[in-house]
Amino acid sequence: MEIIILPSYKQVSHEVSRRIILSVRKNPGLVLGLATGKTMLGVYQNLVSTYQKENIDFSQVITFNLDEYIGLSPNDPLSFHSYMKENFFSKININPENTHILPTQPNDIEDACREFENLIKKSGGIDLQILGIGREGHIGFNEPSSSLQARTRVKTLTKTTLRDNFGLEKGPRFALTMGIGTIMDSNQILLMASGKVKAQAIARAVEGPLSSSCPASILQFHRDAKIILDRQAASLLKRKDYYKWVWKHKNEVNDVIKDKK
Ligand code: GLP
Repeated sequence: MEIIILPSYKQVSHEVSRRIILSVRKNPGLVLGLATGKTMLGVYQNLVSTYQKENIDFSQVITFNLDEYIGLSPNDPLSFHSYMKENFFSKININPENTHILPTQPNDIEDACREFENLIKKSGGIDLQILGIGREGHIGFNEPSSSLQARTRVKTLTKTTLRDNFGLEKGPRFALTMGIGTIMDSNQILLMASGKVKAQAIARAVEGPLSSSCPASILQFHRDAKIILDRQAASLLKRKDYYKWVWKHKNEVNDVIKDKK
């Protein structure tokens, strides 16, 4: 894992959007895994503003969203369909046929999950998956105790998640989510987190033991996962000085290799 600690949320969202933009420029048909939540808002704002100012082309990009609540109308403002439309899809030139979000009202839950997995496979797999993290360490809606190998399926949300996402213990209680196995199949992962409220989950994910009690700890096993944090989200990391040191001197590795030749 690469741990990148930046001074503020603004810089974290800039760094994540910069990496997405580079990936789209390098591969216009990028298969991009997307997340929702407050943390992602700055990233979508940056991507939209780059689209408006620099004319980045999203027309061939294929997207898969991590998760969606069950039971809402897709137009409900709480749904991730609404979130994605309002914050990103309606503001760029993405082809709606290339965007995939799990249904809010599936006729058959297992079929819907199987189809989603098949679509990911048909697209060639996710090149770059963006993740946030829940305060108890969930990724997508893989709540603590989720199987670390699970595929897309239904999950019951914890009371903490309901409180964090709706302010109250009401709203949808179930969600469809990419499984941890699905997420781990992505070629690259960028997890972003901001604020003190995420510090404990980040410390457990990065420096704790691998455990389904903190689903994000599975990222320790991913071959290309980057964890991009502001100072507050990084505040409980024991080795934060080392991570900062690595980031600061990252580019010198190439010089060292060159010097030895
Ligand atoms: C939600 C989503 C996650 C998201 C996380 C953090 O429940 N399912 O994908 O990363 O919680 O959300 P926020 O950024 O609002 O803290």
